[in-house]
Amino acid sequence: MKIIYIASEMDPYCKVGGLGDVMGTLPGKISKRGIEVKVIIPAYGKIDFDQFGVEKNIDNFFMDMANKKYEIRIHKLIRQADNNKYEILFLGNMEFFRREGIYTNETCDPYPDNFLRFLFFQRAALKYITDSNFQPDIIHCHDNQTALIPVYLKYNYNNRDIQNTKTVLTLHNIGYQSITEFHYKKYMDLPEKLFYPCQLLEWYGQINPLKAGILKADKVTTVSQGHAKEISNDERLSAGLMPVIKSREDEVVGILNGIDYDQWDPEKDEYINTNYSLADFDGKRENKKSLLEETDFSTDNIKIPLIGIVSRLVEQKGIELIINKMEDILSHNVRLIILGNGTELFQIKLNKLAHQYSSHLYIDFSYNSPFSHRIIAGSDILLMPSRYEPCGITQMIAMKYGTIPIAHKTGGLADTIKHRKTGFLFQKYSGEAMINAIEQALEFYRQPSKWENLMINSMNSDFSWDRSVEEYLELYSQVADNR
Ligand code: ADP
Ligand code: GLC
Repeated sequence: MKIIYIASEMDPYCKVGGLGDVMGTLPGKISKRGIEVKVIIPAYGKIDFDQFGVEKNIDNFFMDMANKKYEIRIHKLIRQADNNKYEILFLGNMEFFRREGIYTNETCDPYPDNFLRFLFFQRAALKYITDSNFQPDIIHCHDNQTALIPVYLKYNYNNRDIQNTKTVLTLHNIGYQSITEFHYKKYMDLPEKLFYPCQLLEWYGQINPLKAGILKADKVTTVSQGHAKEISNDERLSAGLMPVIKSREDEVVGILNGIDYDQWDPEKDEYINTNYSLADFDGKRENKKSLLEETDFSTDNIKIPLIGIVSRLVEQKGIELIINKMEDILSHNVRLIILGNGTELFQIKLNKLAHQYSSHLYIDFSYNSPFSHRIIAGSDILLMPSRYEPCGITQMIAMKYGTIPIAHKTGGLADTIKHRKTGFLFQKYSGEAMINAIEQALEFYRQPSKWENLMINSMNSDFSWDRSVEEYLELYSQVADNR
């Protein structure tokens, strides 16, 4: 079988969140199972091709979009994954991708032409595939940035070689749909009737690519079983797409993400101060000490509970609960370290709080992978009060490091954290409920044997990719057999 993954992020080349983590691992795991795999991602300006050994400009071609001719350059990397190799193709274009950010500019505002950028990317990827001699059995698309691929395959390529190719669309985040104005249809080159009211692309007087992708993909997946149920039953958690999901109910499945334990393992993590393991987790204390030093906190009383947050600073992540309850959180004699970037307004509010509570609060607004490792290893608790969370990677990583998650009981957080066994969950999305969960956790923390049990349970949890890979393989063979 041949599979092409097309996505807008892939660790370590370009990552904003968990999509990058999944793309950084899943294709390699699948290729290891004997499937021929290729990955196509945009050649963003910020990717350092030399650092990764990417072969530059191996090919180029031209594509028209709304009567303008664009050049696409192809760069290639053969990635080694567990004694196995697969190909990554970077699709480059000066106008759309030669800039620093992936989705946003320096002030974290989305680029105004994001719809066009990713429309271009999808059309170019399909042109490249159809012109090449690698005809995939399945194209696995991810999120709104690649959701139009199933639509193009159905309407623009049905007489070509690629007509037998099936599509899987994974919804990592249904909250981002790339809804756009009708006048962009001139760039899309799709049949006019699809834009009519109540037709495939129309959504409340605008164009909704994610809705169309959900309707036309052969299979739709999301990244936990809990979230699959949520989006089928809850208007709000589906960001309005519940009726669309319901109409495809038989084709929607939840497959939990895994964690790449080669990258996230306290026993061999190269970014942390002292390695440690379940058999001997004394080293965690050393990591806490060095993290306190790194963040200018006093190490005199190392026992003060240390809470870490590593997150995009966006509405989804419950940042307003943290801001509104900051005084209350810190009144519990804890220290809080936040690493995150995102919405400017959240940064402004958090920055003010960081000055006000400098003895207990440290905030870094950068995107910093090595520092995220040190926060996760050195903190006692990871706070993740997400309003909704399709899966959540950070809490699974934290558990491997014996860092106890406190989270809102939603989606993948509810599926992965066992209340009072591996972490703490709060049911209602409110500041009071979050504080109550923090108090429960601190109650355990004051009793070392109880805390140790939590750490042992959480470090024993297994979120490796093995199970999910089996589920994806099963899904791929179902999809391919349906041809
Ligand atoms: P989401 O994809 O919604 O952002 P996940 O929990 O699935 O949430 O994945 C987030 C990923 O991004 C994790 O690997 C997390 O460590 C990483 N991450 C988020 N913010 C930062 C940051 N500021 N610096 C480094 N890594 C970050
Ligand atoms: C999304 C979700 C997150 C998930 C990640 C990877 O961005 O917000 O919950 O873990 O994608 O699937």
